[in-house]
Amino acid sequence: MRERTRIKEALADFPVGAELQVAGWTRSVRAGKEVAFIALNDGSCLTSLQVVADATLENYEEVSRLGTGAALKVRGRLMESPAAGQKHELRAELIEIVGPADESYPMQKKRHSFEYLRTVAHLRPRTNTFGAVFRVRSSLAQAIHRFFGERGFLYVHTPIITANDCEGAGELFRTTTLDLAHPPLVDGAVDFTGDFFGQATGLTVSGQLEGELFALAFSDIYTFGPTFRAENSNTARHAAEFWMIEPEMAFADLMADAALAEEFLRFLCSHVLDNCREDMEFFNEHLDKGLIARIEKVVASRFAVMEYTEAVKELQKAKTTFEFPVEWGLDLQSEHERYITEQVIGGPVFIINYPKEIKAFYMRMNDDCRTVAAMDLLVPKVGEIIGGSQREERLDLLTERMNALGIDQAGLWWYMETRRWGSCPHAGFGLGFERLLMYLTGMENIRDVIPFPRTPRHAEF
Ligand code: 4AD
Ligand code: MG
Repeated sequence: MRERTRIKEALADFPVGAELQVAGWTRSVRAGKEVAFIALNDGSCLTSLQVVADATLENYEEVSRLGTGAALKVRGRLMESPAAGQKHELRAELIEIVGPADESYPMQKKRHSFEYLRTVAHLRPRTNTFGAVFRVRSSLAQAIHRFFGERGFLYVHTPIITANDCEGAGELFRTTTLDLAHPPLVDGAVDFTGDFFGQATGLTVSGQLEGELFALAFSDIYTFGPTFRAENSNTARHAAEFWMIEPEMAFADLMADAALAEEFLRFLCSHVLDNCREDMEFFNEHLDKGLIARIEKVVASRFAVMEYTEAVKELQKAKTTFEFPVEWGLDLQSEHERYITEQVIGGPVFIINYPKEIKAFYMRMNDDCRTVAAMDLLVPKVGEIIGGSQREERLDLLTERMNALGIDQAGLWWYMETRRWGSCPHAGFGLGFERLLMYLTGMENIRDVIPFPRTPRHAEF
């Protein structure tokens, strides 16, 4: 007999009559004098294995008093289950209570709100919803590496500690070993020359700039790593720590970039439908009835493309009243993005060619000198899921933009040098991994798709 069989395999692969040993945590226990039914879950799949224990067990008395949350090892024989909704059950021959749990276990068998479950983030992975979320998260992470690996993209690890603020939004978390009670000051300002790195550093807001350096050597690259932003927006779609996937392609323009983004998102949609079926059906049933149909539609359709200028016109025509103003030159807010993708298009849409004033310094100037070759992919329910652009590869225009925006060129000398030798058109994008998960699971709060969320005033666990 094998040491430990995963419940997923016990339910799918083993014939009736097989002897096996499983281990997991009790989800519920219904016990009488003669027989007890235990729903056991080990996280390998959504379905719990029904364990049937009877009074012939030496420790039946103890077993019958078990509640939710205990860790058990069970040895027994798989039998056909007379109960509805399950094929197999395990007739227990031996039950070892590995880690008991009493009635003070914070997740008794009833529905708890997501808000409450965030306060017990150390235990919430043991619920159906979070089990499904984190299985899908793991499966998608592996699919992402496969997507790029199969297409010859080099996986590059860009630094987490950095001195550059790629997006220029001033949202860097500082990293320092200076004595905060007595920081060295020069003219009233902190002097970072005595700090660990001899300069001011922080946690990366994007691996893009370093990614570009590698694209200009390996042609096609991607990063997939943690990203940090000290933006004080307490919304359901912003986290201070999140994961981002950033591909970058040399000899590519904005439309090639959009084509890759579309192929990528479609691949990930197919992946969850084909590989995470049980969990996806759970989300579809309990969270978002239209989820699977929506994702199937994405797989089958072409994404729309709309100029920023056209999007502004659509918003100005809209009968809806928006909280934020709409005017050419202003950034699109979440409510505007959702209106366009949900009401105007009814599916994913790339908005392209934004005014240069609202986009980062590295985006390529269009011939109109007013807009840059930017693209945001908007999807229903989430809004912006991908942000990307063709990069400014012309040194004179790049320098001009950096001057206009007051970007420190000394700190980015290496970035600028790639425009001196062997510069070429290149483009890339960033996909927020948690936004992707929200989109594919129907979960409505970013705090519920990342194991231990970091948001303003919250870094517990
Ligand atoms: O649009 P953003 O800021 O673009 C960049 O960082 C570029 N350097 C990407 C590139 O071209 N290589 O961020 C990209 C994506 C967003 O579309 C969003 O999905 C996600 O990252 N994102 C966040 N996700 C969660 N919490 C936050 N605070 C996020 N900020 C951005
Ligand atoms: Mg963006």
